Amino acid sequence: MPDQGHNRQLYIQTVGCQMNLLDSELVVAALRKDGYELTDTPKCADTILFNTCSVREHAEHKIYSALGRLKYAKRGNPQKVIGVMGCMAQKDQDLIFHRAPHVDFVVGTGQLAEIPRLIKETRGLAGRVQQKAVSLGRRDGSAAKIAGSFQSYDPLRDPEMRPTPFQAFVRIMIGCDKFCTYCVVPATRGPEQSRPPSQIAQEVSVLAHQGVKEITLLGQTVNSYRHTENGRMYRLSDLLALIHDTNGIERIRFITSYPKDMTNDLLQAVRDLPKAVRYLHVPLQHGCNEILRQMKRGYTVEEYRDMMHSIRTTIPDCSVSSDFIVGFCGESEPAHQKSMDAVSEFRFKNSFIFKYSERPGTKAATMFPDDIADRIKRQRNNDMLDLQNRISEEDNAAFIGRQVRVLVEGPSKSAAKQAARNTKRASGISVATQLMGRSDCDRIVVFDGNPRLVGTTADIEVHDCTGTTLIGSIVTRDVQHSSTEMLPILS
Ligand code: 5AD
Ligand code: SF4
Repeated sequence: MPDQGHNRQLYIQTVGCQMNLLDSELVVAALRKDGYELTDTPKCADTILFNTCSVREHAEHKIYSALGRLKYAKRGNPQKVIGVMGCMAQKDQDLIFHRAPHVDFVVGTGQLAEIPRLIKETRGLAGRVQQKAVSLGRRDGSAAKIAGSFQSYDPLRDPEMRPTPFQAFVRIMIGCDKFCTYCVVPATRGPEQSRPPSQIAQEVSVLAHQGVKEITLLGQTVNSYRHTENGRMYRLSDLLALIHDTNGIERIRFITSYPKDMTNDLLQAVRDLPKAVRYLHVPLQHGCNEILRQMKRGYTVEEYRDMMHSIRTTIPDCSVSSDFIVGFCGESEPAHQKSMDAVSEFRFKNSFIFKYSERPGTKAATMFPDDIADRIKRQRNNDMLDLQNRISEEDNAAFIGRQVRVLVEGPSKSAAKQAARNTKRASGISVATQLMGRSDCDRIVVFDGNPRLVGTTADIEVHDCTGTTLIGSIVTRDVQHSSTEMLPILS
């Protein structure tokens, strides 16, 4: 047997988006079937995986540095296997072997099912041949052939890898066909393909049986979902209706939406389905029409405004968040000001703000010079963040004195840090601590409570806030659904 004589300890480092978190969960679940256990120290592991992101250069640097630190890791442990998976693997391919010759295999986002086999084969190969499992490039064949080379990988689940035992991601589509000029995703994740609704409903039902209460449906442009099954075409609104009554599921969210595909049927579904979270993440990216055109986003600020109007009139209590890119090619001060104006006008719950990072192979990289100095990008990023924080704090203040319904996720960040400092394992201890959860419009709420509340729904009265957090105390709590099994280990 080639795959013997090693300790089956797996170290996996994941960077990037929720898609990557889900991919890591699935890979870990598959490797557990082969007897692997997770370790959080690369030194102890005989198998090291990096799940990578290429959206910005910084994320790639981080992985190449981590790989660099492992240059001599195989000395004294020739059984050690190092693999790189995900977006950077698909994008850089042989370049990874060139920059980090000690890497054993490179696996793209559409080939993750190959990982258990590649690990086994790598260990069995005398002299270590470097192996590669990647999908076709966007110009490497017919549309069907390219799409077929990206396989959706959703076989097994691993509760330990989830955000919490009662929250899970469910992929409803892979890939992206929007081709925004700055973005590598259409290349790294391939053509847009929606999964069959019956498969998704089945997965949600399995997760509900495992104790999951909140499902987050994932797609790069999740509201572009379309799939015809048994002669019926399903849109995201139909899919929400299909899974809505799954026993045990209390909340359904979906990210990330594409502005142009935000249709009324979807807004009405969010309004009418009680389990649908009143939260939409619909990135505007920029407030200037000329830049939106150069980004090839496919809409104008006016069209986005119309969409926001539909959201606000259909679901008045819905919160909306956005992404912005600052310092895009040729962004003048007045153009940046238009993005600032958009932040003021649309009053997003929060915005994820990114400095433009030129990505080789994208249209923007070939068409427009990356001509905004980093210092200016940083300044614009900070200015926008300050403005957004002021708005978030003002809008959060409107919740003071009101009650919000929260799904309790675990100890708050500061309570978790404190517990880690105390080193005492708090599992099973039922002293009050600061807990955190999210409201049904996706606001972070912290309050003091018994750790046993984790995984239950509680009503919280808000009495203070910051730009990112509502602070409150418990009014009622619903503990019927909690089961000791589902309590996460508090540390
Ligand atoms: N540079 C900076 N930010 C980017 N994003 C995508 N590509 C780039 C890039 N080249 C941002 C977008 C997207 C988010 C996930 O990352 O705002 O919505
Ligand atoms: Fe990238 Fe645009 Fe697709 Fe979003 S919609 S993943 S920004 S190409």
